[in-house]
Amino acid sequence: MKPSKLWSKDFEPDKMIEQFTVGQDRVLDLRLARYDVQGSMAHIKMLESIGLLTAAELQTLTAELQRIMDVIDRGEFVIEPGIEDVHSQVEFMLTERLGDTGKKIHSGRSRNDQVLVDLKLFMRDELKNVARAVKRTFDMLQSLSEQHKDVLMPGYTHLQVAMPSSFGLWFGAYAESLVDDVRMLVAAYDTADQNPLGSAAGYGSSFPLDREMTTRELGFATLHYNVVAAQMSRGKTERAAAMAIASIASTLGHFAMDVCMYMCQNFGFISFPDEYTTGSSIMPHKKNPDVFEIMRGKCNRLQSVPNEIALLTANLPLGYNRDLQLLKDIIFPATTEIAGCLDMCTFMLHHIRVNRDILSDPRYDYLFTVEDVNRLTLGGMPFREAYRTVGMQVQHGEYVPDRSVNHTHTGSIGNLCTEAIALKMQKLLEHIL
Ligand code: ARG
Repeated sequence: MKPSKLWSKDFEPDKMIEQFTVGQDRVLDLRLARYDVQGSMAHIKMLESIGLLTAAELQTLTAELQRIMDVIDRGEFVIEPGIEDVHSQVEFMLTERLGDTGKKIHSGRSRNDQVLVDLKLFMRDELKNVARAVKRTFDMLQSLSEQHKDVLMPGYTHLQVAMPSSFGLWFGAYAESLVDDVRMLVAAYDTADQNPLGSAAGYGSSFPLDREMTTRELGFATLHYNVVAAQMSRGKTERAAAMAIASIASTLGHFAMDVCMYMCQNFGFISFPDEYTTGSSIMPHKKNPDVFEIMRGKCNRLQSVPNEIALLTANLPLGYNRDLQLLKDIIFPATTEIAGCLDMCTFMLHHIRVNRDILSDPRYDYLFTVEDVNRLTLGGMPFREAYRTVGMQVQHGEYVPDRSVNHTHTGSIGNLCTEAIALKMQKLLEHIL
């Protein structure tokens, strides 16, 4: 009978123990499969270069790994019942087909650095995906900002009517805010872009491993030199990614809140075609913003991910501990969730309708007081006197707004600097994409 564990000796582990310790791995690890094969390909190439495999063995193993990669590409890769993780599955497939040659692949390696390298490669790709999704939302926001740059809307402070704003500013603000989230994404990418392979169980190996070679083979920017630091990066990579995701989620959640509020009848700033709203089982008139409520909820939850990781990894002893496996349960769904929220936001923005005539409503009259104060000031009246003059008009119910708005400085209603913001984003994304 074939042993079901890489570490099998002359006993089989208790079924309950197995289920509890394997947890979600047999499902989650499927997402690591292609990276596991990629890591193994680099590892065996290196083993051959230091004389631990013959050229013929390297060729046979590479061909077989390529065959496994094809199975993955066809979506047919499975982790068979009784096999605990992707690393075991790939090694069992190799030994099943190649016998002793397959058994040589794990020299100078441990599942600890194997899972690390899988995760680094996986996180790089996931962060790229998230970056692409951010870019799509960013582009959409920027184009809406330009399209509606002349449409005014109220600006609020303390949720009280404050000064004129515009749809150009509103959409454009969220676009520029995403630029800073992408800064964090770039930092997370750089953290992931380091080779941990060769750290083995966490303390290196007595084989003369060529770690620079696997770094090059896998296209990493650099390596975690210190083998203990390499092992310590488990959790750190995920934490950096989680912080970037949380940052994006905070921007997106904030935007979702605005949308819910601006769709409310009391505001009436924006709307969506009926088919993008949801109804009520009792109130026949309802057209609810459920999409943005779910988005807000998901984004709020995503902001707890760095905290979950911090608690999971707090005060762990140095070196590998099995707790680290649970990082996958936290970070895998998070990358998918944020990309999904971004794509849904972009989709909805394609259909957003903007109310072009908001400010003629008298409830917004006081938006223009500062404009009037400034006009008096430009006419030569000292600012404090102009402030008092308009203030007294408001106080006595005599204020009549002049509704013309003339903002021209950098970043204001009349000068959105859309191009300059796009350039900031482009420079950051060039580093990842
Ligand atoms: N499933 C394990 C993880 O994700 C793989 C590494 C197992 N290593 C070990 N020493 N048991 O951490």
